[in-house]
Amino acid sequence: MAENKNLALYPGSFDPFTYGHLDILTRASRLFDEVEVTVAVNTSKKHLLSVEERCDLIRECVTHLPNVSVASFEGLLVDHARDRGALALVRGLRQVSDFDFEFRMAFANRRLAEGLETVFLMTSEKHALIAASIVREIHHWGGDISSFVPEPVLRALSKTSQADSQP
Ligand code: PNS
Repeated sequence: MAENKNLALYPGSFDPFTYGHLDILTRASRLFDEVEVTVAVNTSKKHLLSVEERCDLIRECVTHLPNVSVASFEGLLVDHARDRGALALVRGLRQVSDFDFEFRMAFANRRLAEGLETVFLMTSEKHALIAASIVREIHHWGGDISSFVPEPVLRALSKTSQADSQP
């Protein structure tokens, strides 16, 4: 990435990547020169999809967004942001109840890396009720998730055994 370009990271678990995530990412891609979807490796959480699967699927979902890249990271987000020379972190807000956790995380990250801004973007009302945890639960019980996740994710999840998946 050229020195003078503004890079923002869009970090998260993305398990799975939903239309809500795509909505936030699309908005971020219009505001920043470059946006990296930063997929967290969290070994303490049981995931529906592996980090590699999540990264590959997100890449398939963002081919129409030329300034978006996808990477995974393990450790502290601020360290990865510093390594990448990122200017900001982007987080999506769906509803007021998201604020509590998001504020605490933003203040913690600011204390660790003053100058790295957290930018909150609001989803479209259409996606305000989508949460990856709810998508996982619907998938677990064999429900239709086609209105929640982009086509590549839907295809991948339809191959995943519902019985094996975690709600
Ligand atoms: O999609 P999620 O699960 O809400 O994303 C949370 C995530 C991955 C962004 C957050 O847990 C994170 O940044 N983890 C990396 C460890 C870290 O830097 N923690 C300090 C911030 S609280």
